Amino acid sequence: MKRIGILTSGGDAPGMNAAIRAATRCALYNGMSVVGVNRGYQGLIEGDMFDMTSRSVGDIIQRAGTMLRSARSDEFMTDAGRRKALDQMSRHGIEGLVVIGGDGTFRGARALVDMGTPVVGIPATIDNDISLTDYTLGFDTAVNTAVDAITKIRDTASSHGRSNVIEVMGRDTGHLALAAGLAGGAEYILIPEVPYDLDAICEGIKAGYRRGKTHSIIVVAEGVGGYHSPDEPHHESIGFKIGEAVQERTGLETRVTVLGYIQRGGTPTARDRLLATMFGCKAVELLKEGQAAKVVGVVGGEIRVFDVDEVTATRKKVDLSLYNVAVMLSKV
Ligand code: F6P
Repeated sequence: MKRIGILTSGGDAPGMNAAIRAATRCALYNGMSVVGVNRGYQGLIEGDMFDMTSRSVGDIIQRAGTMLRSARSDEFMTDAGRRKALDQMSRHGIEGLVVIGGDGTFRGARALVDMGTPVVGIPATIDNDISLTDYTLGFDTAVNTAVDAITKIRDTASSHGRSNVIEVMGRDTGHLALAAGLAGGAEYILIPEVPYDLDAICEGIKAGYRRGKTHSIIVVAEGVGGYHSPDEPHHESIGFKIGEAVQERTGLETRVTVLGYIQRGGTPTARDRLLATMFGCKAVELLKEGQAAKVVGVVGGEIRVFDVDEVTATRKKVDLSLYNVAVMLSKV
């Protein structure tokens, strides 16, 4: 394989640029040429691509976002759209693809493999909801961003003896909320995977104040109470709904912070940069070996390779042992 393409798709994530950089330089080192495809599968369909050199990926390891940008592509969901993408790849001499993104990205990859194009996926989403891999690129950075915000809010919450609800991303899973809530020392963590009893939580908050607590932090995953796509007409955030209820039922001043899109930015942590670099090189190595329909990942610190169908068959479940620790700590 002498010429590969690289694209990013889905919600961007810190670490995507580090993965683009590593895949590009690893390919160039192995005598391949590299095509950067802008705006994911839509850019592939439109032929929006350019030859990349080592310099193209200079000075990006530290930057969040994706230099190749990302976009949704309804057209790529159609056979006609996929055939256009294939035509563009043959026109540009692309023999294989590295696709960086989440579960939607990998479903697209499967379709291209079925049409004869070798594709290898790199898991990159702050949601960390991709099966089989311990981590997806961006998760560690997003957790640290959320924990930094929670720590800042703890300061003001203590000064005013307030309850604070902090809503975090995660689409319809609770991985981000659970990790950030535990690391942030939240008293309560609400995630879509576990039903919650708001009356019991409010009783617990009041009991905590009676035990001398000066504030309470409740981390809520945006998918609690049903995930609303950001494209939907404006809906009240679950964080505000929970905040109003807590204030009503406890009589405590309660404030709400929806972290939103800051969780998608911020310079990638060293961990995300290291993972991205190893993922990028592994993906190119697999294409060089003639592999297709694979997704790279990490398990127990070791880089691993999975079949794309295994990865897309299910979404990763949250680790309930983490959740149970959080519940235990909230009771004393
Ligand atoms: O999948 C990553 C993510 O940030 C989710 O946590 C969030 O719900 C979603 O993307 C937001 O999507 P968009 O960037 O299209 O508004």
